[in-house]
Amino acid sequence: MLKLKYLEKSVNCDALVVGLAKGPKGLEIISTLKLDEKEILQSLTDLGATGKADEVIKLPGTATKVILFTGLGKASKEYSSETIRRAAGIAAQNLHGHKSAIFAIENDAKAMAEGAALGSYSFTDFRGHSKKDQKAPLSEIYIDADGDAKLLKEVEIEVKWTFFVRDLVNMPPSFLNPKKFAELVSAKAKKVSGVKIKVWDEKQLKSQGFGGIIGVGQGSANPPRLVHLSYKPAKAKRTIAYVGKGITFDTGGLALKPALNMDEMKGDMAGAASVVGALLAIAELKLPIAIDAWAPLAENMVSDTATRPSDVITIYGGKTVEVLNPDAEGRLVLADAIVKAQENKNLDAIVDVATLTGAKVVALGTRYSAIMTNNDELCAEFLDVTDVTGEQFWQLPLPEELRASLDTPIADIANIGERMGGALVAGLFLKEFIANELPWLHLDIAGVELNTGKAHGHTPVGATGVSVRSLIEMAK
Ligand code: BES
Ligand code: ZN
Ligand code: ZN
Repeated sequence: MLKLKYLEKSVNCDALVVGLAKGPKGLEIISTLKLDEKEILQSLTDLGATGKADEVIKLPGTATKVILFTGLGKASKEYSSETIRRAAGIAAQNLHGHKSAIFAIENDAKAMAEGAALGSYSFTDFRGHSKKDQKAPLSEIYIDADGDAKLLKEVEIEVKWTFFVRDLVNMPPSFLNPKKFAELVSAKAKKVSGVKIKVWDEKQLKSQGFGGIIGVGQGSANPPRLVHLSYKPAKAKRTIAYVGKGITFDTGGLALKPALNMDEMKGDMAGAASVVGALLAIAELKLPIAIDAWAPLAENMVSDTATRPSDVITIYGGKTVEVLNPDAEGRLVLADAIVKAQENKNLDAIVDVATLTGAKVVALGTRYSAIMTNNDELCAEFLDVTDVTGEQFWQLPLPEELRASLDTPIADIANIGERMGGALVAGLFLKEFIANELPWLHLDIAGVELNTGKAHGHTPVGATGVSVRSLIEMAK
């Protein structure tokens, strides 16, 4: 377990982390601790240091074995929290193999602690012979800044559950099928006080009319599940439902995806992982907000029992859907869960989180997630929340003009429509299942859930854990 502490007196640590910025007259060391700058700056210049973001340079230290200089970019009077968070994160990612480090970049305790902790992640559960060669991340992080003890405890909780989300997303689909997802979440939920859990198996889903989850899951030997977590503190000020897409693997079904990059579809349950992770964190933080988290889980496979293009299914509550493309499956499982979630008549808002469309990745790439809404005020509030967490979201519209493309002569609605603007069409499909007056946010995190490039900032290779910290902050 990762320990976060404030630096009180001098402790023996493996590493010291300070910032390095590119000033108008050359490199600037940004540090809360005094260093012998002259000599160091010469060495850094000789080594070709530039101070740009994600640049990490290590020099031998005196009080610590190494001093790590982490890039902050252009020198400025004040650095944003995300700049500090990322600089601390990439430093921590480059200190795997060391046990302890002092972070002394700036007096922004929270950002430094978050970055350092988020960068101290590794996932080795499925390594065999090579497991012993893996360098363990930092286990003791000392923050040289002012702040109260409560703050670091909160960061520890938030990071612990972000790691749980990353673990779930990193797990291979041969291991993490819907049943296993439900079991792993149940085991965690039982250890957090105030959290209740209910799991529907395939028989219950079928008899109770969850046609979306059943339709998507029926082609797989691994049957679907629906998980509901609830946290209802006595003095709850608001009630929010979080609903996450939980496709443990998306082959595309009979609209089979090409082999290239199909492996990335193990991350198609990232939305479900985020909503359960956020609820467990919120409960452990004892925030005065009631949360329902819903995770509709299925494996979208190809077989003689898989849903055929043109099949009609009935979503929970009775709306019928013509499944013209079984690869547009996320919206089907979400529709069931969104309708079910609204049986709670106390809801003040509903938020769904999903790796929903390739069109979103085309539009915004892999560093920005999309947000769509029926309530611009709530959306603006959420975007304020992401300013605090540093997670990047961009609002996309839900143009009424595209809605008619989902019409079909056969059923109430089709599961695909106009191809152009596919992320918006998917949003419009979900909107059909939301009560008019209920404020709703739709987060399409496709492409951001897995980092298939190099490690950067506090983001490792593989699962990123995107959205979970913003869902927690939203409750705050
Ligand atoms: N899981 C995919 C979306 C996705 C793409 C997630 C890339 C992460 C990275 C989703 O189920 C899907 O296949 N959507 C289709 C919808 C289409 C058939 C309307 C898509 O985007 O191509
Ligand atoms: Zn799909
Ligand atoms: Zn999918």
